[in-house]
Amino acid sequence: MNRTVLITGATGSVSSALLQALQAPPGLKLRAMVRDQNKAGALRARGVELVTGDLDDPESLPRAFEGAQDLWLLNAVGPRQPENSMNAVWAAKRAGVERVVRLSAIGAAHDAPSRNGRLHALSDAELMSSGLKWTILRPHFFTQNLLMTAQTVATEGAFYWDMGNGRLGMVDVRDIGEVAAKILLSAPDAHHGKIYTPTGPASISLAEAATQLSEGLGKPVRYVPVPHDAARKSMLEMGLPSWLVGMFTEYSMAYESDWGNFTTAHVQEITGRAPRSVLDFARDHRAAFDTPPTA
Ligand SMILES: NC(=O)c1ccc[n+]([C@@H]2O[C@H](COP(=O)([O-])OP(=O)(O)OC[C@H]3O[C@@H](n4cnc5c(N)ncnc54)[C@H](OP(=O)(O)O)[C@@H]3O)[C@@H](O)[C@H]2O)c1
Repeated sequence: MNRTVLITGATGSVSSALLQALQAPPGLKLRAMVRDQNKAGALRARGVELVTGDLDDPESLPRAFEGAQDLWLLNAVGPRQPENSMNAVWAAKRAGVERVVRLSAIGAAHDAPSRNGRLHALSDAELMSSGLKWTILRPHFFTQNLLMTAQTVATEGAFYWDMGNGRLGMVDVRDIGEVAAKILLSAPDAHHGKIYTPTGPASISLAEAATQLSEGLGKPVRYVPVPHDAARKSMLEMGLPSWLVGMFTEYSMAYESDWGNFTTAHVQEITGRAPRSVLDFARDHRAAFDTPPTA
């Protein structure tokens, strides 16, 4: 094996998990594309080659993509996501990249209930007809999204969400990274043309997630369902952009209606081990949910 893997989104959550999981065998080079190399000192220290590139700017990409055989394509959430994905796929074609493994999202489709799912569907379709070898991951809701509740869990022993009693098969980001690593370490044809939906081990309500958080954190945690309007108002008051707030609300409405009430065996099938539960996540993230010390 003598290949270079170009990793986008390298300072973010899923690509960090991928880099952690990629125990590169001799002959496999890891190259991370970042917008600001000052934010990636830890990667450089691990021996990952850093290149600068911005998916908003196609002119910045040819040098970053040159000589890569594989591309891990992750796009940040936002209305420019299809443009970013398009710029990357075009740069990959021009650079002679052989295989793209793309992070999409649960239920990506032209009629998906969230704008994020509809945008990802555009990018997925473009990649599928690119002529490159491709694999698409459409993971479920990230368990790590629960970190957004860390402050109220720490201070009130409660978290608030507008998902009612909907059940969902949330997945730990570390499992997505391990699935992606296995695919990238396989022969280019092994997963070509496949779409996988990594999920956690069980489809659970947020009340059940609270029970597992309580056990893993060693303190009581309650889930408090709130109406969509209240959640929307609170996110806007926190300063979140309205596009993002709209996306979160669309997802919450879908999950409340049990749109995400399923699991798959994809993590087990590809990594050979069971996916992590919310309990596992809680045990590994205790510090994040601790009450901050008073000044
Ligand atoms: N959260 C969920 O439940 C969920 C579920 C399924 C799928 N997803 C998908 O997961 C993806 C987000 O993954 P994540 O949570 O790992 O992301 P993240 O932690 O928000 O990180 C985003 C990464 O993208 C980089 N980035 C942003 N704009 C860029 C640009 N113009 N050019 C190049 N790089 C850029 C950021 O780099 P900087 O350090 O420079 O900012 C960062 O490394 C989205 O596509 C989302 O739809 C999310």
